[in-house]
Amino acid sequence: MVTRRSFLKTLGVLALGGVIGSTYRDAVKAFAQTEVSVPPLPWPYVELDVEYVRKMGHLGYYAFECAGGAFWAIMESLREKVGYPYTLLPIPTRDEVEAALDEGKHLHTLMQYGAGGALGWASLCGALNGAAAAIQMVSENWKTIGDMLFRWYETALFPSDKSNEYASKHEFFVKKYKSDKVLPQSVSHSILCHVSVSNWCEVSGYASGSPERSERCARLAGDVAAKAVELLNADLRGELELVGTFTYSQTTASCRTCHFKGTNYEMGQFTRGKMQCETCHTDMRPHAHSIVRLEVPGTSSSPEKTVATGAALTGVIGAVAGLWSYMRSKSKGSK
Ligand code: HEC
Ligand code: HEC
Repeated sequence: MVTRRSFLKTLGVLALGGVIGSTYRDAVKAFAQTEVSVPPLPWPYVELDVEYVRKMGHLGYYAFECAGGAFWAIMESLREKVGYPYTLLPIPTRDEVEAALDEGKHLHTLMQYGAGGALGWASLCGALNGAAAAIQMVSENWKTIGDMLFRWYETALFPSDKSNEYASKHEFFVKKYKSDKVLPQSVSHSILCHVSVSNWCEVSGYASGSPERSERCARLAGDVAAKAVELLNADLRGELELVGTFTYSQTTASCRTCHFKGTNYEMGQFTRGKMQCETCHTDMRPHAHSIVRLEVPGTSSSPEKTVATGAALTGVIGAVAGLWSYMRSKSKGSK
């Protein structure tokens, strides 16, 4: 470790020896590093203006795409209001971003890898990825807030009415729009970039490489950053429950009675997740037969009885959950 004292001593020795050059610069660098104090997370959060952050998210997308944009919108808004420790982040200021856009210059910042669902692989929506990273930096309640944000995203209309309005009235911060039309809206039913973008393209008739699709995601990045800040503001006031609660989709809740991260493989705990199951798994018929073969430890239900129950399953989700409670009651009774 280099303390101020040892640094000065080293400097003296170096000066005496006449070794002033790269060694000197290295020493200065080491010194500078010891002087910077980086506080542990979470960093201080102050109430932010939701609409300001929405516009920052849209601007951020133009410079860094969805993940970098949503992350930057929240972090830069905090840096503008709080200063240190956000001054430690290697992110450009709003002025620098606007200047870079004017000059068509590329900027390198945090979370850009998340673009297009991570490097264009279309997995987790980048706006969610960037916003969740920001949330994690500023709140102890990041898991709850993140769950609320993700579930909201599955059910929200994108782009929002607000974002469509800002764009059509040229009230966002960008000077030149990819498109200033009021864009068609869609519900993604998924946190995945792939599903979100594909659904929107299908609804709108725009191709994934069109300026309109890109503009849709810019507005979405603003909407997601704004929602994250709305939740963080509520969290700061201790009023998170007032803006909503996290609940699984009805289907997911029923599937998760068996399919969750657990140790009972036979019961269905060979998968995990909180996503809306019904977005992808629709045909539950083969599933019904699978469950028929299921042996619940401690039950003595006859094969005929189970098969009869299985035959009654017509792929209706409620029926699957019903079978579960049936098996549960059997297993309880035999204990
Ligand atoms: C009553 C417990 C239970 C519930 C509720 C349940 N599952 Fe399953 N599921 C299982 C078990 C156990 C298996 C493995 C059965 C096997 O392969 O023999 C399974 C298998 C599956 C499979 C593997 C392929 C197949 O069809 O066999 C899928 C996909 C699946 N479940 C999805 C779902 C979804 C989606 C829901 C909610 C709509 C759901 N499950 C609800 C217990 C359940
Ligand atoms: C984005 C689409 C998607 C969503 C949402 C989704 N799944 Fe899946 N799931 C898949 C795919 C794809 C597979 C792999 C299927 C395969 O390889 O046959 C899979 C596999 C599974 C399997 C194992 C299937 C097997 O063959 O053994 C289970 C069980 C399962 N999912 C349950 C669920 C549950 C429960 C939910 C909701 C919490 C859910 N899935 C949400 C797409 C999805």
